[in-house]
This record gives sequence, C-alpha cells and structure tokens, in this order.
Amino acid sequence: LKSRIIADKDFIVAPLDRRVFGTFVEHMGRCVYGGIYEPGHPTADADGFRGDVLALTRELGPTTVRYPGGNFLSGYNWEDGVGPKEDRPVRLDLAWGSTETNQFGTNEFMAWVRKAGIEPMFAVNLGTRGPAEAQNLLEYCTHPGGTKYSELRKSHGYPEPYDIKFWCLGNEMDGPWQTGAKTAYEYGRIATETAKVMRWTKGDLQLAACGSSARTMPTYGAWEYEVLDQCFDQVDFISLHQYFENHENEVDRFLTVIDDLESFIVEVAAIADAVAAKRRSAKRIMLSVDEWNVWYRARSGEQLRSATWEQAPKLLEEIYNFEDALVVGGALLVMMNNADRVKSACIAQLVNVIGPIMTETGGPAWRQTIFHPFAQASRYGHGEVLRLNIDTGSFKAGNQDAAPLLVATAVHDAETGQATIFALNRSTDQEMALSAELRGLGERALAEGLELHHPDIKAINSKDDPDQVAPTAHERVAVEGETLSATLKPLSWNVFVTR
Ligand code: AHR
Repeated sequence: LKSRIIADKDFIVAPLDRRVFGTFVEHMGRCVYGGIYEPGHPTADADGFRGDVLALTRELGPTTVRYPGGNFLSGYNWEDGVGPKEDRPVRLDLAWGSTETNQFGTNEFMAWVRKAGIEPMFAVNLGTRGPAEAQNLLEYCTHPGGTKYSELRKSHGYPEPYDIKFWCLGNEMDGPWQTGAKTAYEYGRIATETAKVMRWTKGDLQLAACGSSARTMPTYGAWEYEVLDQCFDQVDFISLHQYFENHENEVDRFLTVIDDLESFIVEVAAIADAVAAKRRSAKRIMLSVDEWNVWYRARSGEQLRSATWEQAPKLLEEIYNFEDALVVGGALLVMMNNADRVKSACIAQLVNVIGPIMTETGGPAWRQTIFHPFAQASRYGHGEVLRLNIDTGSFKAGNQDAAPLLVATAVHDAETGQATIFALNRSTDQEMALSAELRGLGERALAEGLELHHPDIKAINSKDDPDQVAPTAHERVAVEGETLSATLKPLSWNVFVTR
C-alpha cells in the first residue's frame, strides 16, 4: 500500500490555535477529589494538589482547562466553593448522585492551573441560575476591587484579580438530563442576556454558546440555528460535544468515527454561516469542541450516577486500550485539519473520569494509552496547518463508503523552521509506504520520529504495567531533500518532526 502527501509551505489552512489542546476538569467522580486534589497523598503539596498528577499534566501538555462542569455545572452555586473551607456547605450533586464537599472551588482551581501552567476556561451555570449569578462570579474573579464581589475575593485572601478570558455559557442545555434544560429559544435568550452583562463587566471576553450535546441529538441542527439566531452578536464560539464508542467491537468502523467528527465540524460551521448570511454579516462564529473523547464502556446507569450519595465515587473510569489511542489521535488530526474553524477543544476529562491520566486514591498515577497521541500533538502541534494533497487507498466502514486509509496533518512553524507530520495508518492489515513532499520548506533533516503501535489492539496500560502502550522511536523513516519516506505499520500512529 502506497500513500503520497504533497504539502506546500504557502498553502495553509490556518494558523493552529493552541487552544485545541485543551482539557476538562469537572467536579465529578474522582476527577477533582482523588485526581488533581488529594490532601494527605504522599505527593501532595501544601495546597493538597497531587504532585504526580501535576507532573503528568505538564507532560500531557494541555493548553486550556474547562471548569467546573459538565452536568455538575448546571446545579452549582459558585459561592459554595469560596471562602473559609470550614464554612463551605456540603451539598447534594444531583447530576452525579454524589455528595459535594466544596473543599475545592474557584480559588483552588486557579491556584492549580497556575501551578500546571494552563489557561483557565470557566463555565457559568445557566441551568438553575442566570445572568446575575454569572455576572457576580465574573466580578468576583476579574474585577480589581471596590465592589461587593471583588472585595469578597480579597477578603478570602486573593487580592489580585484573575484575568480569565474564556467563558462557556452553560453546559449541554439541549439535554433532557441537564438540570434546567431549555429549548433552543429559551437558551438562546438567556445566553444573550448573560453574555451582555458579562461583556459589560469585562470587555475582552471570549464567550461560547452551547451547541448540541451530540450530533445524534434529535434537535441537532435546528438547535444550533435557533441558538445562534438569538445570540449571534454576543458570542464568539459555539460548542460541539463528541464522544466516540465501539459497542460493536469493530475496529474499522470505530476508526471511521473521526470522519463523522469531520462531518459534524463542517455541518456546524455551515449552520453558523447560514445565521451569518441571514444577517449579511462577515462575522464568523468559531467552533469549540469543548468535550470530546472515547467514552462507552463506563456509560451504563450505575456508572453514570452513584446511588449512594458517596463523596468522589468511581464514575466513568474508562480503561483505554490501543485502538482508543488511534481514535483519539485521529480526532486530533481532524480538529487540526479544520484549524480555520476549530479554535478550541477539550479532551474530556483530565484524570480518572474518562481521562488520559489515571490514579489510585492514596496510590500511584499513570498514563492511559490515549495520553500519548495527545501529548505528542500538543508538543509538536505548533505553527500553521498546511493544506495537504493526499493520495491513498480507502476502505468502507461505518457511515463511510470511501474513508481514506491514511489520515495526516502537517504543521509548519515558520519561526523555528520545524515541520511535523502526524500520520495515522488505518489499514488493519497493510503496511503503508509513505512519501511526503514538503515543498518550499528547503532541505529537511529528521529531528524525531515516533511510532505508537501494539500488536494487540485491546492492550491497555495499568498500575502494574503502565507502559504496555507507549511511543517508541520510529525505525523506518528517512529524509532526503524535501521528501520524507517512511513505512507505517498497519494500525499505527506516527509522528515525524523535521527541521
Ligand atoms: O464528561 C462527562 C459528561 O459528559 C459531562 O458532564 C457532560 O457535559 C457530558 O454529557
């Protein structure tokens, strides 16, 4: 099987917005408690943040982190999570059937993101609450002082305002499972009014409206149109949520879920542009895929909600295998290849709950299989995404009659001269002879070649065997002039860094 890529330095899709390498921390299961925060853990610092999780987070390399939910958000009172810890109320979390102690809240989160070196992405509750509470939270976080909520922040020991720019207006408001779910019109109106008061409070915000919870929602399409028809002038982004599954246990179908993501992106952009066209507006609403990942094993009733109001129960602790890592890598390629519209994305979630990082409470932390393609994409995904001409074979599976066997992305960083090719061979049985011409980039040398492959697609990483699935140096790659040649194993994820 032969595949050919032609790229040209001057033919670009768009500069890659590094916010596509975001992640998500929700008050859910053991993501916060037992994940990023565990006072008393052997690696915990004075703030109670797990040092092992912080180190793995830095290695994973997320650029932004969405907080505090998720479905949790839609019943959350942010005031419960600030001020002296001993005064914070213990609450029922209706979204996950859990008990929320509120020992971790806004200021702890901001301390954690600073230590992790990540930009925060906050979300406001538009389920049980509305514009006033959103504005109060924004004032608490970002106003310098002299007002009720900015002085409250100072009294809690945080004299300096936080410069939090990216805010999500609610979460999955189209979902009947959501506390305070709304019709598209109701949500579009409350998003508009919330955005107005937030913008009047702080001028340089980026605001994201909720799109559909999934492309399979019955209201999909009509939802995006109506919501944006209401709030088009007030928002910068519309969100997409995409969770992939492999219930049928068919690897070739599973690998085409990334083509469905491509359709999702193209469709939502088209709907946003239809709303713009109706207004004769040149404004373009950007896409924020602010929840995405593989998630299907831990999706049954008892794993979704704790029946016992436990604190930090084990929820959605999906154990990822090698084929999941291929899908996660492929999804990253699709998002990078749509860099002109996808300017933000969050792998959901960061740790324990459908997370690339796994921990044992009181014990170690390790990298799940999906950790690796994400870490590599974030590490090497800098610069402009090049428009690729790809000549490859195809296969028929899932919704796709002719899915390309090779999925690839090339990014070129003009400042450093680095050009990276990410290549996913989706053939289940054929090696691929790849030739990639990087026209106009001058003589290239291979700086790094990496391969993620395992002969068993169901191989997992675990506490006792944390590196079963891990990248290795690529053994079959060479660069001559502007052309890179490599042999890609069947079902493999490959990264080639050239300078
Ligand atoms: O990430 C898990 C859950 O998935 C989130 O809370 C919700 O927004 C989505 O349905």
